[in-house]
Amino acid sequence: MTTGADHTFIRCRGLTKVYRKGDNEIVPLAGLDLDIARGSFVSLMGPSGSGKTTLLNLLAGIDSATRGTLAIGPREISAMTRDQLAAWRAREVGIIFQSYNLVPVLTAFENIELPLLLQPLSRREREARVLRALETVGLSDRAGHYPRQLSGGQEQRVAIARAIVADPPLLLADEPTGDLDRTSADMVLDLLERLRTERGATIVMVTHDPAAAARAQVQLHLDKGRLAETVVRA
Ligand SMILES: Nc1ncnc2c1ncn2[C@@H]1O[C@H](COP(=O)(O)OP(=O)(O)O)[C@@H](O)[C@H]1O
Ligand SMILES: [Mg+2]
Repeated sequence: MTTGADHTFIRCRGLTKVYRKGDNEIVPLAGLDLDIARGSFVSLMGPSGSGKTTLLNLLAGIDSATRGTLAIGPREISAMTRDQLAAWRAREVGIIFQSYNLVPVLTAFENIELPLLLQPLSRREREARVLRALETVGLSDRAGHYPRQLSGGQEQRVAIARAIVADPPLLLADEPTGDLDRTSADMVLDLLERLRTERGATIVMVTHDPAAAARAQVQLHLDKGRLAETVVRA
């Protein structure tokens, strides 16, 4: 299926993932065909075990497909080596997790700076980018705070700043509001929406929360590794 717009950014064809455990086969993704338009905000829902995280991991180049093809922008992800994938991911993908995954012994500033250490940037340029990312998520006054000194919503906004500090065109979020109260969740969703409109980021967000899913332009529903339903907001 197509998500409506003309400029496809992500293209999956027959995307299949098989895990083998002894004689058992688990097929979390079973021949997925999917096009996602550049600059769209897509939510991904489905029962537990329906393949949502598996799909995100393939989109992130963290895991590789057993069969089928996956292209993101001009690149054929399914044809890249591990090293190529790692370099590509550092430039092109920002990932946000339910549990924030901040490094507890580093400050907000240092957590956000981490992805930039992989890039050939001067210290001054790194600092400028981290401060800009902190400003984007509304936490300029928390740069020196450690994760334990922040609320859950603030921790997630630091994690988002870390995900966007290298300005990647693709943002992947796995239940980013799962541990947050409604107010903090809405703040995170507002922020994702703003990253789409202001930076043109393409966002794929897994969620169990129908209110969060409804913020996306396209709602995909996975069931047993296949697309069960697609709702496109008018
Ligand atoms: N590394 C793995 N090895 C074996 N089975 C796995 C692995 N990762 C996921 N699975 C299985 O694949 C299915 C889909 O998992 P997942 O994509 O995490 O689902 P969801 O995120 O929708 O809850 C589940 O049955 C899960 O147990
Ligand atoms: Mg999952």
